[in-house]
Amino acid sequence: MSGRTSLTIVLAAGEGTRMRSSLPKVLHPVAGQSLLAHVLSAAPAGAGTSLAVVVGPDHQLVADEARRYRRDAETFVQRDRKGTAHAVLSAREPLARGADDLIVAFGDTPLISAATFARLRAALKQGAELAVLGFRAADPTGYGRLLVEGGRLMAIREQADASAAEREVTLCNAGVMAFDGRKALSILEKIGNANSKGEYYLTDAVAIVRDLGLEAVVIETSEDEVRGINTKAQLAEAENVMQARLRKAALDAGVTLVAPETVYLAADTTFGKDVTIEPFVVIGPGVSIADGAVIHSFSHVVQTSIGKKASVGPYARLRPGTSLGDGVRIGNFVETKAATLEAGVKVNHLSYVGDAHVGANANLGAGTITCNYDGFSKHKTEIGEGAFVGTNSSLVAPVKIGKGAYIGSGSVITRDVPDDAMAVERSQQTNREDGAKRYREIKTRAKAPKAD
Ligand code: UD1
Ligand code: MG
Repeated sequence: MSGRTSLTIVLAAGEGTRMRSSLPKVLHPVAGQSLLAHVLSAAPAGAGTSLAVVVGPDHQLVADEARRYRRDAETFVQRDRKGTAHAVLSAREPLARGADDLIVAFGDTPLISAATFARLRAALKQGAELAVLGFRAADPTGYGRLLVEGGRLMAIREQADASAAEREVTLCNAGVMAFDGRKALSILEKIGNANSKGEYYLTDAVAIVRDLGLEAVVIETSEDEVRGINTKAQLAEAENVMQARLRKAALDAGVTLVAPETVYLAADTTFGKDVTIEPFVVIGPGVSIADGAVIHSFSHVVQTSIGKKASVGPYARLRPGTSLGDGVRIGNFVETKAATLEAGVKVNHLSYVGDAHVGANANLGAGTITCNYDGFSKHKTEIGEGAFVGTNSSLVAPVKIGKGAYIGSGSVITRDVPDDAMAVERSQQTNREDGAKRYREIKTRAKAPKAD
C-alpha cells in the first residue's frame, strides 16, 4: 500500500467556559504540567508532521505554552467561539495543504497516549476516511454519543441535542479524530450550525462522511485515557488518574513509595535507584532525585535536584533553583530557594537558605537565616567549604563566610568573614551573683497578701 506519510495535527485549544478561572482552560495543570503540554507531548512529531494550535482571542499565554513544548507549532486565532468545527477551520491554511492524514485533537484531554494517535492513523491506512476515538463512559453526561447501527458508526449526537434514548448510550466521543487529509477540508466545510447551541460541531463530520458514502469507524480506548476537562471537578479526576499512573511508573522503576496514594509526583519527576519517598510528600515540576536519596514525610519539593544519598525532611520545603549535592542533609522546617548546597552540607533544623551557595560539608545550625531581601532586591550569601554557622545566626546578604570559618551562635553577620576566622556578633553577657534569688524575693514580697 502506498505510504501515507505527511500529517497535519490541528489542536483546538480555545477557551472553555466552565472552569470559572482567569487562567485559560488548557493551561490548567495536571501533575505540574499544563493540559496542553500533556497533549502535545503525546501527539506525533517529526518529519512530515505539521502542528497547528487553535487558540482563543486572549491567546498569547496559550501560544507561548504551545511553542515551549513544540517549537514547530503554528498558532491560529479563533476570534469568536463558535464551536469545535469552527475552531478547526480557523487553521484553514494547513488544512488546505492537504497532508495525507489530519488529526484533530482537543487541548483538554491530557491523559491521551502516543499509541492511541497511532491507532487512529492505522485505521486510515486500512481505508477509513474518518476514525473517531471512542470510549465507554461510566457517566456519559456531557459527552457526544456515538450512534452505531449494525456495527457502523453513523453519527455523533451532542448531549444538548440527544433524545432520551440517545442519552442512554454510553459509547462516547473522546474528541480525537483522524481524517483522510485530502478530503478533510471539504468535509469540515459542510458542517452547519443547526443545533440547539447554534455551534459548528466537529462531531457532525461523521454524518457528513456517511452521506458522502465514505467510511467512518470507531477506535475504542479506556475512559481514563480520554477524560475531557471542562470543569474543576474533572480536572481533579484527571489529576487522580495521572497520579495513579505516575506512582505506578515510579514503583515499577524501583522507587520505594511507602504509601503511594499519599505522594504527589510531577509528570517530569526523575528518579535514580533506591530512592525512598515517605508518606505525604508533594513533588512539583522539575525535580530529579538521585540514587539512594530519601524524602521524608510532609516535604514539598519544586524545581530541585537532589543528590545521591541526600536526606530531605520531614517537613522540608525545597523551592525552585535548589540543588543539593550528594549526602546533603536537610532537616525539619528548613526552606531553601535558589540555593546550591554542595556535597555533605547539613542544615538540620529551622532554617532559611535563599540565594545562597554553600560549600561542601558546611554545617548550618538551627535557626540559620540568610537575610537575602532588603525590601527592594535580593542578595547573595556565600558560605565557604567546611564553615560552621552557629544556631540562630542571621547572615545579612550580600555576605561571604570564608572556608572553615566559625560563626558564634546568635550572631547577626553583616560583614564578610575571612577563611578560618571566628565571628561573634553579640553583646557581652553579664552574670549578677544571686540576682535570680533577689529577684524572686522582691516579686514574692510584692505579691504577698496584705494584712488588713
Ligand atoms: C467535545 C465534543 C464531544 C466530546 C467531548 C470530549 C464537539 C461538538 N463535542 O465536547 O462530542 O464528547 O468534546 O471531551 O466537538 N474549543 C475551541 N473553540 C470553540 C469550542 C471549543 O477552541 O469554539 C476547544 C476547547 O478549548 C476544548 C476543545 O475545543 O479544548 C473542546 O471543546 P469543549 O467545549 O470542551 O467541548 P465539549 O463540550 O467537551
Ligand atoms: Mg471538553
